[in-house]
Amino acid sequence: MTTVLVTGATGLLGHALCGYLATRQFSLLRQSRDSATDFCGDLRDREFVGRMVEKSSPNVIVNLVALTNVDYCEQHPKEAFEGNVTTAANLVAFVTEHPDVRMIQISTDQVYDGPGPHGEADVAPCNLYAYSKYCAEQVALSAGATVLRTNFFGPGTQSQKSFSDWLIERFSKKAPLQLVTDVLFSPLHLHTLVRMIERAILAPATGVFNLGSHNGLSKRNFAHALARHLELNTDAAKDATSAELGLAARRPGDMRMIVTRFEDAFNTLLPELSNEITLLERPA
Ligand SMILES: NC(=O)c1ccc[n+]([C@@H]2O[C@H](COP(=O)([O-])OP(=O)(O)OC[C@H]3O[C@@H](n4cnc5c(N)ncnc54)[C@H](OP(=O)(O)O)[C@@H]3O)[C@@H](O)[C@H]2O)c1
Repeated sequence: MTTVLVTGATGLLGHALCGYLATRQFSLLRQSRDSATDFCGDLRDREFVGRMVEKSSPNVIVNLVALTNVDYCEQHPKEAFEGNVTTAANLVAFVTEHPDVRMIQISTDQVYDGPGPHGEADVAPCNLYAYSKYCAEQVALSAGATVLRTNFFGPGTQSQKSFSDWLIERFSKKAPLQLVTDVLFSPLHLHTLVRMIERAILAPATGVFNLGSHNGLSKRNFAHALARHLELNTDAAKDATSAELGLAARRPGDMRMIVTRFEDAFNTLLPELSNEITLLERPA
């Protein structure tokens, strides 16, 4: 049986991915800084990483560890690089020594900027989070990793809300919110994303792959499509530009991805974003 070690298992994606992989034919091991996981420790600590990899003897490591707060990364560059690059480099050090271990590095559509949709070579990081994630990709590629650039929505956890959770909550409460018209993206629902990551676990492929949906939308149009699907009231929502939000880090204007390279390599078809939105359910 394939042993899969998921690092960053308690985050938004980790929670969904581990929940799914636990129902499949894998021996699953989970790492985070939470003692409820199989390996509790910090991936910036190379000795901890060495002990974890030796003890778990994984066939595949899926690395989800990241410092994902884009504005925090912009204001704390050293922490951003340690959280995003050093953590990946410590795993790579062990993958390099054990060539039978495969690594899947989860990355982000934030590495793109300018008019999309973007192919994998179009990289133009416009903030420190994006740049540190791109550096982590390069480190992972040096060990023959599969790098999956993605974005996602869907149900989060008790402690962490996803973008779609936040929209549903604001619309349901008829609370004021600003919807950004000039940022486009092409995310997947978590339900689809975890199934696509499983494909990458099962079929080795080195290199960078965009993993998103076809025909992306602006965040504003995504929010309105979500509200239409869940029959939520949008009267309190106002359109805004990303500059009007006054965020610490600049956001890319267009993160939409061309996803045919993933489809070809993993022999699958990725969905339209409008179909992914229909997978959302009203929280109980
Ligand atoms: N969220 C998004 O919308 C989004 C979009 C595109 C791509 N991504 C990428 O998808 C991946 C997963 O994102 P996510 O949203 O699930 O992240 P998340 O919710 O912030 O979770 C990050 C996970 O990494 C762990 N972690 C962070 N720093 C660590 C360290 N130094 N040592 C050990 N564990 C550490 C966290 O554990 P603790 O809780 O113990 O800190 C948590 O389990 C990341 O690579 C991210 O860049 C995310």
